[in-house]
Amino acid sequence: MVTTELAELGPLPATWTRRHLLGLEELAAEEITLILDKADVFKRALEERLTRFPLLSGKTCVNLFFENSTRTRTSFGLAARRLGADVVDFSAATSSLSKGETVIDTAKNIEAMGVDVVVVRHRTPGTPHLLAQNLGCSVINAGDGPHEHPTQGLLDILTIRQRRGCVEGLTVALIGDIAHSRTARSNIWGLKKLGAHVIVCGPSTLVSPRWQELGVEHAYSLDEILPRVDVLNLLRIQFERQYTRPFPSVREYALLYAMNRERLARSKPDILILAPGPINRGVEVTPDVADGPHSAILEQVTNGLAVRMAVLWLLAGTRE
Ligand code: CP
Repeated sequence: MVTTELAELGPLPATWTRRHLLGLEELAAEEITLILDKADVFKRALEERLTRFPLLSGKTCVNLFFENSTRTRTSFGLAARRLGADVVDFSAATSSLSKGETVIDTAKNIEAMGVDVVVVRHRTPGTPHLLAQNLGCSVINAGDGPHEHPTQGLLDILTIRQRRGCVEGLTVALIGDIAHSRTARSNIWGLKKLGAHVIVCGPSTLVSPRWQELGVEHAYSLDEILPRVDVLNLLRIQFERQYTRPFPSVREYALLYAMNRERLARSKPDILILAPGPINRGVEVTPDVADGPHSAILEQVTNGLAVRMAVLWLLAGTRE
């Protein structure tokens, strides 16, 4: 039974018909807004210290992470438990993958134990799509290489919407390692669908002019775009995905692209600073800005829990 405090959530919307969440590219603006609206309800309930919502009682969610994670894995696990589901954490390092079992066979064997949702992170783009084609349960993309990270995009957009009231008409700049960032792609799809103007900005080795084909503005100089930006999303330099260093030194990168006190002074007075995390302190952002009043970095993490509860409920909730 849904708690009275969650009556605001309502029944599972008839307009939501998806079984998987693989990316924001495939979602309509209305579907993104629906997830954000439901996440807002969960967030308010969590703020009232409600921690148990038996909406997924009897369901089982598996975290199938083949790449490291702190925020995504923990919050998916917590979100599923808050909704009353059983949670299984799969550890790639100690699994039978080392004996040559394929990812599909691994996932099918786990599904055979009676699983309702698989949350998957893998370094190869398209892995969640492959599992969605081969499994009967719901699949959620928790990051597929540099392709998409839909729940990160959703929690970023939810944070912007909560802080600024709406997304439409805002100028949002994604800074840094656009080339290797799944967060960048999910942000671009989601933000554009909700009517934001998106700028991708970074060194020429990490931001090709071809990104304009996605309908975004392209820039190399943070200092030039800064005065007209409402929201900055400071992407982590993904050293683990780079085969050659795309700039001469980390120090030079920080000189040109790190958000610091001096740049803050030249920004709009109400500029909002986001970062998907983990952050490299002193590289993408200085500690005083990361921990300062313009930053919503930890708020993003809080919103991640609410977003993942909304997504799990929409995909695996039981219709009356
Ligand atoms: N932002 C994000 O995906 O963080 P984790 O890698 O810690 O999950």
